[in-house]
Amino acid sequence: MSSYAKRMDNIKGSDIREILKLTQQPDIISFAGGLPAPELFPIEKIKTAAVEVLNKHGRKALQYGPTEGYIPLRNKIVNQVKKFGIDSNYNNILITSGSQQGLDMIAKLYIDPEDVILCESPSYLGALNAFKAYEPKFIEVKTDNNGMLMDDLEVHLKNNEKIKLIYVIPEFQNPTGRTWSVERRKKLVELANKYNVIIVEDNPYGELRFDGQLNPSVKSFDTENKVIYLGTFSKIFCPGYRTAWILASEDIIHKLIFIKQGIDLQTSTIAQYDINEFMEMYDIEEHIKELVSVYRERRNIMLDEMKKTFPKEVIFTYPEGGLFTWVELPERVNTRDLLVKAVEKKVAFVPGGSFFPNGGNECCMRLNYSNMKPDKIKQGVDILSELIKNELK
Ligand SMILES: Cc1ncc(COP(=O)(O)O)c(C=O)c1O
Repeated sequence: MSSYAKRMDNIKGSDIREILKLTQQPDIISFAGGLPAPELFPIEKIKTAAVEVLNKHGRKALQYGPTEGYIPLRNKIVNQVKKFGIDSNYNNILITSGSQQGLDMIAKLYIDPEDVILCESPSYLGALNAFKAYEPKFIEVKTDNNGMLMDDLEVHLKNNEKIKLIYVIPEFQNPTGRTWSVERRKKLVELANKYNVIIVEDNPYGELRFDGQLNPSVKSFDTENKVIYLGTFSKIFCPGYRTAWILASEDIIHKLIFIKQGIDLQTSTIAQYDINEFMEMYDIEEHIKELVSVYRERRNIMLDEMKKTFPKEVIFTYPEGGLFTWVELPERVNTRDLLVKAVEKKVAFVPGGSFFPNGGNECCMRLNYSNMKPDKIKQGVDILSELIKNELK
């Protein structure tokens, strides 16, 4: 019998997927996934846009399309990313089937076995899992509330010639909800230029800012085409369309097009037409404002309740946007064990250890506040709080 490829040794089921299965039960209060609030999907408007697409462009929208994507949609993305200081044109944009696919494609382009990927400690589990298929080594760079520590980053860049990618989520990071300072963004580009390394900037949450000003992206400081930027419609529109983009130099986009041809030829034509039509007929900024206002309220409710009820030894982040807060418990608490007890009480979260590629840190957890209604958020936090108090006794 044939054996599985060696790369499969690195690929194991993810905690998130297993937990998401549990959250399918209607009575679970889930802080686990990164799911948007489904009641905010603009279904009536999407219906109108979809009918318009079929009436006006049915034969094209249901046909194969170019690998790089539908030009009118790529032009809209050019416009959409201007708010992050990115100056581009549609040739810099490749539409992907979710940013998840983009992450996989980028690793396929750059990573040979044993190459090194630098990432924030902690980092997005889905990206780490996508990268693992290419058999890299991960080095976790230390972080604080303002992002990666640039001194630590430089030590690694100096001492390791196999570093190929630096993967970062500078805006409302998954899992911590933290945002990088502008100085660190500039410094990151400087270091990438100096050591000739590619930066992968993943920004699914940047538009979901509740307080303060939008920040310029890392890409906006890119002078030598070292930054590959990822954006997605999953969090500002609907993840079910599985439509996202990679923005990079034309050279890099050309290579990625070859890769995409081998994977799925192209992202769904009709999904791209539907989103494009929605953006022509309606103001997506209005829709984003509505998301921001609902998620801000949910963040406030979760964080207020945590402040009120969590024991003093427990610390957590106060995100200015995005979908998550990050909780650090005293080291003696193991959040995988805590999860088992929480699920018995019908509450789910993601244990923090999964977000560290090299393991450890079992005393942390990620909580999502976008998906549950306010009364459930309060109830779930109260249950967690009781469980944590019991653990600390
Ligand atoms: C940081 C980050 N990158 C990428 C993704 C994947 O997004 P998409 O739905 O576009 O595949 C997510 C989804 O939660 C994410 O949090």
